Amino acid sequence: MSRGAGEGNGPGGGHGPARRIETRVVHAGLAPDPTYGSVIPPIHQTSTYVQPAPGEFVEDYDYSRSANPTRAALERALGELEGGHASAFASGMAATHALLTAALDAGDHLILPADLYGGTYRLVHKVLSRFGLAYDLVDQRDLDALRAAIRPETRMIWVETPTNPLLNEIEIPAVVEVAGESGGGAAAAESAGGAPPGAPIVVVDNTFATPIVQRPLELGAAAVVHSTTKYLGGHSDVVGGAVIAADAELGERVRFVQNSVGAVPGPLDCFLVHRGLRTLALRVAQHTANGRAVSEFLAGARGVEDVRWPGFGGMVSFRHREAKAIAARTEIFSLAESLGGVESLVEVPGAMTHQSVAGSAAEVPADLVRLSCGVEAGADLIADLERAIGAS
Ligand SMILES: Cc1ncc(COP(=O)(O)O)c(C=O)c1O
Repeated sequence: MSRGAGEGNGPGGGHGPARRIETRVVHAGLAPDPTYGSVIPPIHQTSTYVQPAPGEFVEDYDYSRSANPTRAALERALGELEGGHASAFASGMAATHALLTAALDAGDHLILPADLYGGTYRLVHKVLSRFGLAYDLVDQRDLDALRAAIRPETRMIWVETPTNPLLNEIEIPAVVEVAGESGGGAAAAESAGGAPPGAPIVVVDNTFATPIVQRPLELGAAAVVHSTTKYLGGHSDVVGGAVIAADAELGERVRFVQNSVGAVPGPLDCFLVHRGLRTLALRVAQHTANGRAVSEFLAGARGVEDVRWPGFGGMVSFRHREAKAIAARTEIFSLAESLGGVESLVEVPGAMTHQSVAGSAAEVPADLVRLSCGVEAGADLIADLERAIGAS
């Protein structure tokens, strides 16, 4: 599985040898406050900025929908970590909306994964399709099916890997290659995001993997989306999102939508996500240890079927005929939507996060349980599940 997160870890963002990702997450986007030297810059909780004369202002800080220093620091950090041009949003869905509307026009065709976050499907199916965007759901593990779904008007392939909630893994370089095969030659218009002329761009929802595990821009993707609500924020205390574009032109288009629509995160939310980033590598290591331990336990547990864990992180899913009862019985795993925080959560996607795909080709099995393993002691998580499943 190619993840673009090998030795060397991409651009170092500074002088000297390239720094490793564990170092970069701690320092990304942060410079001491120039006035007092505080290690952490102040939270710029302001809507506007005094202008010495009409139209004169510092950098691009004239109004906080357009720009805010605390948001800019987070955007610098996210850009450094994914290796592109970042814009921060008020939610993952606002980020998804911005990328789709920045890169696509009425009449364009989009390929979505056949198993994906329900909100992404709902946005395309219920909202953007009313504005002339066509789409198909394709299982992107099947490259022939993907090839067959690409039409002359296909402008984007949306990848989620691992997928939510089935945790299927998609080979990003293979999807990029298939997309490149369909370029229309030099006469065709240049695609947004640096894809070959006429070829659809490949964009990746990197919420589950995080840049610790996978950096899609290094693998040829044109843009990455995050729900920063999840692993990047990491503490279940903020809702946010981000788009990171590989090239400046697509980055500018996303930024234009950010300012035009105005779904921007407040300064405090930006501060919280940025603070979360600093411990991302530590947290992902512990999530991974717990994901491994829990999936090994589940593989031998009575009545449990189809255990899935992608080999990293804390996301584990399984099937059990008593899915809802088990999810209601755990004590350390709280029954709640969302994922990626330090505390463990359990949910039943068919009844909770993925109701919006019911009846579609992306419908999830009703007996599926999704776990987000937090950073607690793995033995305690296993004991909690053992009790909840044993009572079935
Ligand atoms: C993979 C994925 N992408 C996007 C989103 C949407 O993010 P948000 O809830 O921050 O709008 C989610 C939310 O669960 C998600 O799991």
